[in-house]
Amino acid sequence: MTIFKVDNEKCNRCGICVLECPPRIIEIKESGALPSTIQGQEERCIACGHCVAVCPLDAISLDIMSPWDCAQMQNELLPSAGQVELLLKSRRSIRAYKPERVPHDSLLKLIDIARYAPSGHNSQPLHWLIVEDPRETRRLAALVVEWMNVLIKKSPRVNELFHFDLFVSAWERGEDRVLRGAPNVIVAHAPKDTPMAQENAAIALTYLELAAYSMGLGACWAGYLLAAATSFPAMMNELALPGGHRCFGAMMVGYPKHKFRRIPLRNEPHIIWR
Ligand SMILES: Cc1cc2nc3c(=O)[nH]c(=O)nc-3n(C[C@H](O)[C@H](O)[C@H](O)COP(=O)(O)O)c2cc1C
Repeated sequence: MTIFKVDNEKCNRCGICVLECPPRIIEIKESGALPSTIQGQEERCIACGHCVAVCPLDAISLDIMSPWDCAQMQNELLPSAGQVELLLKSRRSIRAYKPERVPHDSLLKLIDIARYAPSGHNSQPLHWLIVEDPRETRRLAALVVEWMNVLIKKSPRVNELFHFDLFVSAWERGEDRVLRGAPNVIVAHAPKDTPMAQENAAIALTYLELAAYSMGLGACWAGYLLAAATSFPAMMNELALPGGHRCFGAMMVGYPKHKFRRIPLRNEPHIIWR
């Protein structure tokens, strides 16, 4: 249970915390009273910190976060709408990487940003496996190729759909079409029965991919690694995630070899207006 505390001296009873609380468990019982949690509802707090972060007078603290723990908004540092649009539209999946590995601190920075992605009920369920050593990244790519080889033999129909034979023959020629020669890979994992884990991982990895781009790095979803990580025992052994955990997404990371000069076209949106 999170403990909600209000500084009597600072609080002006504006009631913004009441209105911003997602599960609506804060009340001002009577005019002039301090906000407090509704008795018996405290367990429903999702520890999102909105009450702390929205209070204009820094009057609210939770036992898990005080205003002083929370970074102050610096609105003047926010990008403009045009800059955000450009960032979002010009992000590309990167499939040609320089051999240099991404420094430890940059990998950590990516996770530090990704952990601010929205998560269902603010559950923040994701754990991360960061493959720093490019030799390990290559071992993972080799295991995906091994998994593809197994599937080609077991299920020619799947091969027809996904053309795994082309990935395998490329690998045999020394070309990595699986992890694209990226030096690093980041895997998002969580206990396998976590509600909405797939959605939470997709959003967090999307944050991570955009953050990578803003930092001069390149990234790309590693869909085949994800597929192998959820079905190929040899890959599960190699990843050695904590007991009961499942991989929910993976991203290649590295320095892009090439610069994109233009933004490719995308389909016109299908919209129903009401
Ligand atoms: C869930 C998901 C899985 C993906 N898996 C792969 C992959 O295994 N290999 C790859 O090269 N690209 C992969 N991609 C990247 C897509 O091919 C790419 O987003 C798409 O072609 C559009 O290009 P863009 O990201 O540069 O706009 C994946 C994307 C998503 C969203």
